This record gives sequence, C-alpha cells and structure tokens, in this order.
Amino acid sequence: MAVDYLRLSLTDRCNLNCVYCTPREKSGYLKHEDLLRHEELARAAAAFVRAGVKKIRLTGGEPLLRKNVVGLVKMLKAIPGLKELALTTNGLLLADLAGPLREAGLDRVNVSLDTLKKDVFRKITGGAGLDKVRSGIAAALSAGFAEVKLNVVLMKGVNDAEAAAFARLSLKLPLNVRFIEFYPTNERSSRLKGALVTTADTKRRIEEELGPLQRVPASAADGPASVYKLRGADGKIGFISGRSDYFCGACNRVRMDCTGRIYPCLFSPATHSLRDLLRAAAPDAALDDCLQKAFLVKSRYKKDSPTAGNIEMSSLGG
Ligand code: GTP
Ligand code: 5AD
Repeated sequence: MAVDYLRLSLTDRCNLNCVYCTPREKSGYLKHEDLLRHEELARAAAAFVRAGVKKIRLTGGEPLLRKNVVGLVKMLKAIPGLKELALTTNGLLLADLAGPLREAGLDRVNVSLDTLKKDVFRKITGGAGLDKVRSGIAAALSAGFAEVKLNVVLMKGVNDAEAAAFARLSLKLPLNVRFIEFYPTNERSSRLKGALVTTADTKRRIEEELGPLQRVPASAADGPASVYKLRGADGKIGFISGRSDYFCGACNRVRMDCTGRIYPCLFSPATHSLRDLLRAAAPDAALDDCLQKAFLVKSRYKKDSPTAGNIEMSSLGG
C-alpha cells in the first residue's frame, strides 16, 4: 500500500501522564535545540508531500504545547499538494485554540479521552482537567471542523464499564467516538497487557445497553477503524482493532518524531533521520532520497516485529 499519511510529532512534552503512554520514570524532556524548528518541520513536511503524502496529522506528546502551534498550522497548510491537515490532542488546551486552529486551516481534530469520571480521569492521566477537555470538545464541535473524533482506550477494571456511556455521546452529538484496542509498544505498557478490552467485548457491552450497531459503509476517511451507528444517532462509533484484527496490509502511514527521526512502522525502530540534512541545508533532492529509502524499508516491519517493544508513545504520538 502506498504511503500517503504522515503522523508528525511536534513535541515529546505532555501535560498529562497517561498510564499507557508517558513513561512515569522519565527523567527529562528533549532539549530545545534537539527539536526541529517550525521552518525545519515545514520543509520536512513538504518533502513528505513530494513523496506522496496527502494527509498530515500533528501529534505529540501534546501538540498544543508547541509554541505558536497556530502559526505552524498556517505554514503547513500552505504546502502545495497537501489535501488534509489534522491533529490529535488530549483536549486540555483546546477550548481556547479550537477557533484559531480552524481559522489557520486545520481540517480535523481527534481528541483523546478515556473516561467521563473525574476520579478515573485522575487515575488514568495522573492529573485533573476533565472539565477542560469537555469544553475543548464543545469548542471543536462549534469551530466548524469537518469532523471531530473522540479516541477512547478501554482498560479492564479501569474504564471498561464506560463503553456504553461513551457510545451514548454519539446519539446527541455529531461526534465520531472510536474505541481503540490497547496495544503494548514498550516494556512499561506491556505490563498492562492483561487490561486489553477487545472490540468484540466493547461491541457486546454497547449493544446490550443501547441496541444494535449498524455498519456504516467503509470510507477512506475511516483510517484503520470500522465504523457503525446507533439507530437515530447524529454521530458514529468506530473500532480500531490493532490487536484482534491484523491491519498491516492496509497500512498507509509513516511517522516522524519532533527530532526528525522517521519510523516506517509503529513497531520498527527509527530507520532514517532528516535532521542532519535539514541542518546542513541539504538540497530538496537529498531529502527526497532519504524519504524514498525510508518508505522502501516499511514492508520489513509488522505488528509484533522482533524490533517491537521500544516505542515511546509519549514522543511518537500513537
Ligand atoms: P484519522 O485520520 O481520524 O483516521 O486518524 P487516526 O485514527 O489515524 O489518528 P488518531 O491519532 O486519532 O489515532 C487513533 C489511534 O489509532 C492511534 O492512537 C493509534 O492507537 C491507532 N493507530 C493509528 N495508527 C496505527 C497503526 O499504524 N497501528 C496501530 N496498531 N494502531 C494505530
Ligand atoms: N494503545 C492504544 N492506544 C494508544 N494511544 C496511545 N498509546 C496507546 C496504546 N498503547 C492512543 C491515545 C490517543 C492516540 C494518539 O493514541 O489514546 O488517542
């Protein structure tokens, strides 16, 4: 499958500390000078677009912590040939930024939220802010984005009882609520392996409480999700089954972290880097060549590749 989707991490910093993501024992963040500057990010992004990328999704850490992220969105949106610019955020800073981001040209927003209960929010994220995230979602819904998706990772005994409560949000709001199967990507998150809630379990819980889920015909905008609707709902319900349903064959994405390292697969090491080329003011042809090489090695890696196990979601953004 051709690579046409770049997930671009803007920072390794986050204002939350989720159990499956940020390494709690992490001693510090990257130094400022290690991060690519806005101009460098834009030049890298333009090279990805020349290489065939049509959609860029900004991730983190928490991408809204990046200084002047609205200005960066404007720069990226101006890249000729880029069809869609999207962002995945924890929503804490979204209430104030949704409007400006939309005005700057951001097309779509996905918000990560795993619980609707304050005490469980603290347990999962290590912090407070559920009300802020809810205001952020409301702001995104009224800012005029093409679509707002809500990402939910259910964990056994932590928040799995909330499956139907999340699904219910899709009845009244034009939200696309997506349940993502937890997947271990490193030693720390592997300790949570037993907490996996499968898509089949989640569907069963939802249907028991809210009635049958009706399949929505697949569309390119679904990504790896299979999408359903509850009868009479404004919104949709999607399932991303990375554990129980192998989807490597349909994978169209690459990732770059905020230092310019390229990961052809979520389960590969970084195989290439654009940073030295960018900092040496190398010509476009050198960047293009590097990307071509990175895209070529993508097919070597698969879910559960022997190299899997070292990815920090906190700096690679899922
Ligand atoms: P859309 O453009 O809305 O389809 O976004 P997306 O689903 O690609 O992006 P988002 O950041 O919302 O990601 C949702 C989740 O899907 C991520 O957190 C990952 O957990 C999961 N996901 C994304 N890409 C992959 C992948 O390559 N493999 C696996 N296993 N899961 C992925
Ligand atoms: N398993 C499943 N989803 C994860 N995310 C981060 N780490 C994991 C993991 N180990 C999700 C977050 C967010 C998205 C970017 O990635 O919930 O929605």
